Amino acid sequence: MISPANIQEDEHGIPYSTDYNDCYYSRNNGLAESRYVFQEGNQLIERWQARETPYHTFVIAETGFGTGLNFLATWKTWHHTEKKNRPKILHFISIEKHPIPKSQLVRILSYWDELSPFSNKLLESYPPLITGLHRLAFDNHQVILTLCFMPAKQALASLHYTIDAWYLDGFAPAKNPDLWDQETLSAIAKLSHKNTTLATFTAASLVRKQLINVGFKVSKRKGFAKKREMLVAQFTNNEDFEKSKKYPTIKAWFNYSALKRHPSKHVVIIGGGIAACQAAWHLAQRGWQVTLLERHADLAQEASGNLAGVISPKMTAKPSIGEDFYLASFLYVLQQLQQFAHTVDWDNCGLLQLVHNKREKARWEALKTREIPESFLKLLDKKQASELANIDLDYSANYFPKSAWVNPKSFCKRLTQHSNITIQYYHEALHLEKNNNAWHITGRNKALSTPLIIKSAYVIIANGKEAQQFSQNRHLPFMPVAGQSSLAKSNTYSKNLSCILGHEGYFIPDYKGLHCFGATFNRNSIDSSLNSEKTDENFLQAQKYLPNIGITRTDCENGHAAVRMATPDRFPYVGALPNIDYYQKHYSDLHQGKYWKDYPPANYLNGLFIFAGFGSRGLTTTALCAEMLAALLNNEPLPFENKLLNQLHPARFLIRQLKKQSNKTDRS
Ligand SMILES: Cc1cc2nc3c(=O)[nH]c(=O)nc-3n(C[C@H](O)[C@H](O)[C@H](O)COP(=O)(O)OP(=O)(O)OC[C@H]3O[C@@H](n4cnc5c(N)ncnc54)[C@H](O)[C@@H]3O)c2cc1C
Ligand SMILES: C[S@@+](CC[C@H](N)C(=O)[O-])C[C@H]1O[C@@H](n2cnc3c(N)ncnc32)[C@H](O)[C@@H]1O
Repeated sequence: MISPANIQEDEHGIPYSTDYNDCYYSRNNGLAESRYVFQEGNQLIERWQARETPYHTFVIAETGFGTGLNFLATWKTWHHTEKKNRPKILHFISIEKHPIPKSQLVRILSYWDELSPFSNKLLESYPPLITGLHRLAFDNHQVILTLCFMPAKQALASLHYTIDAWYLDGFAPAKNPDLWDQETLSAIAKLSHKNTTLATFTAASLVRKQLINVGFKVSKRKGFAKKREMLVAQFTNNEDFEKSKKYPTIKAWFNYSALKRHPSKHVVIIGGGIAACQAAWHLAQRGWQVTLLERHADLAQEASGNLAGVISPKMTAKPSIGEDFYLASFLYVLQQLQQFAHTVDWDNCGLLQLVHNKREKARWEALKTREIPESFLKLLDKKQASELANIDLDYSANYFPKSAWVNPKSFCKRLTQHSNITIQYYHEALHLEKNNNAWHITGRNKALSTPLIIKSAYVIIANGKEAQQFSQNRHLPFMPVAGQSSLAKSNTYSKNLSCILGHEGYFIPDYKGLHCFGATFNRNSIDSSLNSEKTDENFLQAQKYLPNIGITRTDCENGHAAVRMATPDRFPYVGALPNIDYYQKHYSDLHQGKYWKDYPPANYLNGLFIFAGFGSRGLTTTALCAEMLAALLNNEPLPFENKLLNQLHPARFLIRQLKKQSNKTDRS
């Protein structure tokens, strides 16, 4: 659980931590200090300029995000540097154990007029104070901020990418030794490469000695204003650290360090649902040329074809990896929708999850004890819930003020309105084969009844319910779940409904004179035919939990039916497809308990990626997963902690199977 910063501001708005008895930055001029200590200390501009071709991605990591002043100052410097002299993507990772509440941050940052174009954008996307990684993207994904709201030790152990420059800014070592001890600095070294630099305002001798111990070459430099000295350092090449390069903290079989990247920036995506469109947009934003192959005449015709769907987190009684995944995904997609504003049909009207059975009641009781910020989740009694919904309700509720509904088709259209994206309708891919460096996609053009042959170094399989169509990924386990939503004409009373209602299913406020509600859930069924019995089922469910809403069966009609493709552990597959022969050859003895470093890094079907298995929540989860996929193709830091990367990895079931098989062999 997060404990927010306790801050006093002086008459000039300069923040002072009452927990650590220290200032956030110099009283002399925090902005000048930030530029001097961290930007000049890491020689950012000189390093950027020294390159013949600009850095593709330059990664800065900071211990202590605080007010975000260092991030904003660096963003401004990047912004004002000529394109040819700056990295294409500035990626800033910042770790913060005690984030500052937004209302206070608004006040503190208002002091820095010259940063306002940047701080306004930061404040618009600033996440609620919830533990985890929060990915924020600015300036068309050219400036990316990964905010890690957690203690530094935990964050450093769960990051996987090497850093180009470190800003160590976590209060004076004497007042906050935990942030400067050997364990923290070793983790920093582990994430460094031979050109990594580091700068810090402190010149404490213990810090200097420990930095040397972990492999940095350290020098002293004149400190800012009245400070006598500060430290700068460069990581010295160390074979152990060099060996593990890009993803040093991830197990060999889930490691992407051996993923080969082709110079081409063209990708073919198979599919035209929300998954494919999200992947297309995230890659197009990064300058990739995208060809989308969709077998129908339009986007969003299958699982993404409902009139409206819900975007919401999924809270569990106790913190869990699932909750982390949905939460981070939820906050990210909202940020994206806010950016798209009125060009997508959506409404973040909030959601009341009704406490309608014992399981929900137990969750409600557990959530009450978890100090979750009210801006994110409020627990309401029946009267409060009814007032909020503008409709009489029979239950207390968990209220998610930021939850939204969206019309998926308008979302898909908006995502693909990008000059780098070409959509080929009526194009059905049937077969994939690798020849030389290119994947050959063959199939048919259904409009012209002609064969289809397309070549590309990169292919993403995002084909929803056909996820097992290609031999390269047929080994991945999936579970189809058929479902149908229904529509009800809104009436004078139901039109009052001001937020989404969740029970076993959901009921969405009036959109174009209709409420979209349901949906049925038939495991292991691939029946996507529309039928009125399923609408009966949806109607009876709505009537049971929302008896006062005044909808009759005759108001209802069939909505949309489709198959949601889920996976056995309910997490999608996001990433490169494993080379099964290689896995079987190199990881078959995992049961012997060798330390993972002994294993060679994973090997993939280079250029071929899977993006499927989004089950019942693809509208919420595809955006952040697409950000991950695009970052992976583009060789950038990924937006998930290691444990989640492992959980989304396409080889996870293969590895489980290899471990099991080995155990069986052992016993026999
Ligand atoms: C009734 C129902 C209600 C739902 N409600 C919600 C909700 O409220 N909130 C939520 O978050 N999620 C909801 N979902 C789930 C969500 O809609 C899915 O997770 C999401 O749509 C999956 O997107 P997708 O792109 O993977 O699949 P799809 O939308 O099915 O897209 C796959 C596309 O690939 C195309 N394709 C397949 N094979 C080929 C090929 N070989 N060549 C070319 N094209 C091909 C298909 O034509 C299709 O357009 C619901 C789903 C259903 C069915
Ligand atoms: C000097 S302030 C940082 C100022 C900040 N860089 C800025 O631009 O405003 C130090 C920050 O480190 C954070 N911090 C302290 N101990 C930490 C820890 N163990 N892990 C992560 N953050 C920590 C504090 O909460 C505080 O925000």
